[in-house]
Amino acid sequence: MENKYYYIETFGCQMNVHESEKLAGILVKMGYAETKERAQAHVIVFNTCCIRDTAEKKIFGNIGELKILKRQDKSRIIVIVGCMTQQEGMAEVIATKFPFVDIILGTSNIHLLEQKIVELEERRHRKRGKIIDIDTNEKPAVNEDTIPYRTSYPNAWVNIMYGCNNFCSYCIVPFVRGRERSRDPEVILEEVQSLVKAGYKEITLLGQNVDSYGSDRNDGVNFYTLLQKIAKIEGKFRLRFMTSHPKDLSEEVIKLIAETPNFCNNIHLPVQAGSDAILKAMNRHYDRERYFYLIDLIKKYMPNCGITSDIMVGFPGETEEDFLDTLDLVEKVRYHNAFTFIYSPRKGTVAAKMEQIPYAIKSERIGRLIALQNKITLEISQEYVGKVMEVLVEDAPKPNMLCGRTDCGRLVNFAGNKELVGQFVNVRIDKNKASALIGEIVNG
Ligand code: 5AD
Ligand code: SF4
Repeated sequence: MENKYYYIETFGCQMNVHESEKLAGILVKMGYAETKERAQAHVIVFNTCCIRDTAEKKIFGNIGELKILKRQDKSRIIVIVGCMTQQEGMAEVIATKFPFVDIILGTSNIHLLEQKIVELEERRHRKRGKIIDIDTNEKPAVNEDTIPYRTSYPNAWVNIMYGCNNFCSYCIVPFVRGRERSRDPEVILEEVQSLVKAGYKEITLLGQNVDSYGSDRNDGVNFYTLLQKIAKIEGKFRLRFMTSHPKDLSEEVIKLIAETPNFCNNIHLPVQAGSDAILKAMNRHYDRERYFYLIDLIKKYMPNCGITSDIMVGFPGETEEDFLDTLDLVEKVRYHNAFTFIYSPRKGTVAAKMEQIPYAIKSERIGRLIALQNKITLEISQEYVGKVMEVLVEDAPKPNMLCGRTDCGRLVNFAGNKELVGQFVNVRIDKNKASALIGEIVNG
């Protein structure tokens, strides 16, 4: 039989990256092989994001480009899945604007991909038609049937929960991913155990707010008890997780991370803003004091912890003074790294209805924020120069060139054979560049 190929393009966060592995798992099981060329693919899947307007615009542009490919081969199947499709009225917009799209699936029913492709092929013998299946239930059942086709060795992503209950006033996620649903702790544990056994060296637990894991269950499990169980798994591997929420992160979790050798000293703790007034308007349920309290705890238990953040500028009502509070917080915390964003109004959210700030102000503020964080990142990197650090080799981007990360999450580039991918090596850090450290493998 002639080879059939699939092409998946992923937009957005790690959650989507992992969901694309599940989509790939379904397609591989159906007999498709992966291609990196859209033009070679029989099934083209776009896994979409709608967190900011920029993501949405980019995806619209990309879907538009598929029109020619569809015209070249009418039997090609075009599938749009993920967050964007779950926005109110968006599936219909996509269907109308891009009539060549065949299947549109929401965030909680990607496991139906095989069934929908079969249905589409059957329909085609009679009359062409489009399939749209968006689950608008706020708590769709957790589906455990799909086996992901993993593409990020030596790292493996593991969902611990889906959805979000927090309704931060700027955020579209609770609207497109529904309420929190935690996976069964035994299922998570088995998955992590089997991944470690299969040779994966880094496990990253995923959830919109990992600290509230278990709160929708009645069996007393929570993030701490889940981590306690994972801490007992034997073998050398690294455990990371994202995302932590400052309103929920607890001292016992911080302490457990510090005490467990396999748990990375690395915490992503998005602050979003440094002004109490803005944090309140964002509905974040913590203030600067609580945030600094957590940072002090982390630094007390793990002096070398890599702390990272998400920070937004230009939220409605943000004054110059509020923004200076954000800069002040960034100076005080000294993040290893921060993802910085310009606030983007999302339809249906509370903040979208507030009075908006001119783009020129947002753009000027983000410039100042990025400059400050870059300076801090560089200064922290400088502290690593001359040190020998354990690095997990993650990739070989060029011949004889490797890259990997330290326990605290710093990216390091160094020379070496690609057979070392998936191994722990000791690297002496020689140079400090803006985006990464440069080093050399040393023995022992
Ligand atoms: N505009 C800009 N950034 C946003 N984020 C979430 N919603 C928005 C928005 N409407 C950012 C937050 C979050 C990260 C994943 O994306 O900082 O932590
Ligand atoms: Fe969005 Fe807030 Fe939920 Fe994060 S915690 S996904 S920012 S609503």
